[in-house]
Amino acid sequence: MAIRICPSILNADHTRLSDEIQRVATADLLHLDVMDNIFVPNQTFSFDECKEIIRSSPIPVDSHLMIIDPDQKAELYAHAGSANVTFHFEASKDPRSTIRKIKAAGARAGLAVKPKTNFEEVREYLPEIDMLLIMTVEPGFGGQSFMADQLVKVEEAHKAIKEMTGDLPWLQVDGGISLDTIALAARAGADTFVAGSAIYKSSDAARSIRELRELAQV
Ligand code: DX5
Ligand code: ZN
Repeated sequence: MAIRICPSILNADHTRLSDEIQRVATADLLHLDVMDNIFVPNQTFSFDECKEIIRSSPIPVDSHLMIIDPDQKAELYAHAGSANVTFHFEASKDPRSTIRKIKAAGARAGLAVKPKTNFEEVREYLPEIDMLLIMTVEPGFGGQSFMADQLVKVEEAHKAIKEMTGDLPWLQVDGGISLDTIALAARAGADTFVAGSAIYKSSDAARSIRELRELAQV
């Protein structure tokens, strides 16, 4: 099974961001958390900063939008060059149209659910999305503890994806993924893993990426 490791630069040293981006060049995708201080109680990168990060990243960028107006703004992050743009189901009035706009702008489209949102609410979008993101913490901050109760949702989504044909959507987890938790998520069916603190708080980011990748091979 293909495994993808996505370091989250939310947890990087923002005063030396370009070095921090280069530190994770052996990963699959650079995870870019966009927060507006409304959808979540935290604010991260401006659109101009995002464009610069996307431009300078040696690996494809996975933009995770935690904003209240993805129906208006998601496609901008695709036009800016993100390989993938994920938006939150809870913030969208018209997920189907936003998925289509992201794809029309040339990116993969991801749909994210917060811990309290059930899989059944998003099942109908599986045939149209390129990735489902199941949050394993409440979105907003890095360094929180992994919510093991979300594994049931990962299993449900994995089962539904296995029953599909054609290009299957990736199944991503985000929040509290570490050397201690990644195998649990992988065993439940996740194939794409965001890791912030586990990679950026390590003295050897490349080694952490390698170790996470090995532990995800279940
Ligand atoms: C949280 C963000 C995550 C965060 C993960 O809302 O979406 O991507 O950076 O950080 P860790 O891996 O430290 O939980
Ligand atoms: Zn994220």
